[in-house]
Amino acid sequence: MKQRGTILLGILTMTLFLLGAFRQHIYTSHSIPATELAVAGDTLKKDPDTGLVVDENLMMVKAQCTSCHSPKLISQNRFTRDGWRQKIRWMQANHNLWDLGDTEKVVLDYLEKYYAPTQIYSRRAPLTNIEWYPLKQK
Ligand code: HEC
Repeated sequence: MKQRGTILLGILTMTLFLLGAFRQHIYTSHSIPATELAVAGDTLKKDPDTGLVVDENLMMVKAQCTSCHSPKLISQNRFTRDGWRQKIRWMQANHNLWDLGDTEKVVLDYLEKYYAPTQIYSRRAPLTNIEWYPLKQK
């Protein structure tokens, strides 16, 4: 009797162990590849100095955009390329921001890429040219 209990316990322990190993296998084999992670904004690598997204154009943005104010003014905002251009013009008109010259394109590329408004898709475009008709009352 005692022996059977030991065997049962052994089988139970082994089953649990195998289940654990299998679970591990499921998790690791279904983990998201690093390339897909880079798409999600929250997982992009941030520069420790500024908190801005690391990119080959970051140096230019740091040089042109972080000497007057906190880089948070950038990272907290979301504008379209046109919106960012307007902010630059506004700072140039009111806050002594210099002419960015050729670097403006590089800076705008960066801002548009990482600090654009997130798009919200509705299920379909709103209907247009609807022909309304009056309901007849009885
Ligand atoms: C010459 C100084 C200077 C430089 C350089 C500068 N800014 Fe500014 N920026 C300002 C000032 C001043 C404000 C207003 C700050 C405030 O309201 O407290 C401002 C505000 C902003 C704001 C907030 C605008 C709003 O509507 O609230 C954003 C976004 C911004 N800057 C982005 C940038 C970007 C992008 C660059 C690089 C192209 C840049 N700044 C470079 C002076 C500068």
